[in-house]
Amino acid sequence: MSDDDTAPRRSHGRVRVSPTSQPRDLMADPPVLQGAWTARVITLVPQAFPGVLGESLTGKALQAGHWALEPIDLRPFGEGKHRNVDDTPAGGGAGMVLRADVLSRALDVAARGAPNRARWPVVYLSPRGRPFDQATARRLAAGDGVTLLCGRFEGVDERVLEDYAIEEISLGDFVMTGGEIAAQAVIDATVRLLPGVLGNAASTEEESFSNGLLEHPHYTRPAEWRGREIPPVLLSGNHAEIEKWRRAQSEALTRARRPDLWAALKGEE
Ligand SMILES: C[S@@+](CC[C@H](N)C(=O)[O-])C[C@H]1O[C@@H](n2cnc3c(N)ncnc32)[C@H](O)[C@@H]1O
Repeated sequence: MSDDDTAPRRSHGRVRVSPTSQPRDLMADPPVLQGAWTARVITLVPQAFPGVLGESLTGKALQAGHWALEPIDLRPFGEGKHRNVDDTPAGGGAGMVLRADVLSRALDVAARGAPNRARWPVVYLSPRGRPFDQATARRLAAGDGVTLLCGRFEGVDERVLEDYAIEEISLGDFVMTGGEIAAQAVIDATVRLLPGVLGNAASTEEESFSNGLLEHPHYTRPAEWRGREIPPVLLSGNHAEIEKWRRAQSEALTRARRPDLWAALKGEE
């Protein structure tokens, strides 16, 4: 990260965001694109954004203003000349912990213009969190935005999570070096549910998880490839039979691969 005032500013969609905020910028309200669902991301590596979110459908939607992205560099909120953001864990042990006082300053800036926590949750990406799923993506997409706190090192001081009543979300049962990849996954899954983002490219109603099942297999041309044929029912033109086949495939896949989803579905019936 550079503290150079002359460093190029990078544009994320219609909102210009500098990854090199000077301390005076901390007083400014984060830019809000009127009406657009907004992801604010508190991170030590703001240059990792938009990353893959700047590509393809999410990137086009960002440019079109269907959503907005505001990385908030944690470094300028640090302590002292070197803007220290972390310290050794109380009680000893390996690694470093992100400081509560430093994080709170960034969280306070992130909260500006986003007072309704019911419509703008604050989330810490963490392996201890509730596993991220499609229902959570739908909940986030129904709000005005989200503030995502990306951990690094050993994580964050617990007190800041308690004090700000921060929800914890996990990408899965594995440990990454930072929360940024998880943040991008959460944003991607959420943004594609926003009106106007997918256009006619896909229906989110027929996808995996939307009805509690994994999706059926897909096929396209050529009709035969390496001796493998497309299941004839898909070429029959009989839509009722095609639907029946797809449902049966979805159920078989879900039963075999995700007994947890299958049991949940059967419990609902
Ligand atoms: C090395 S991890 C810290 C792991 C932590 N000491 C633990 O054992 O739970 C550093 C950061 O990466 C992020 N992270 C790592 N794995 C993650 C996961 N599965 N889901 C979401 N975030 C994750 C979190 O933000 C975390 O603070």
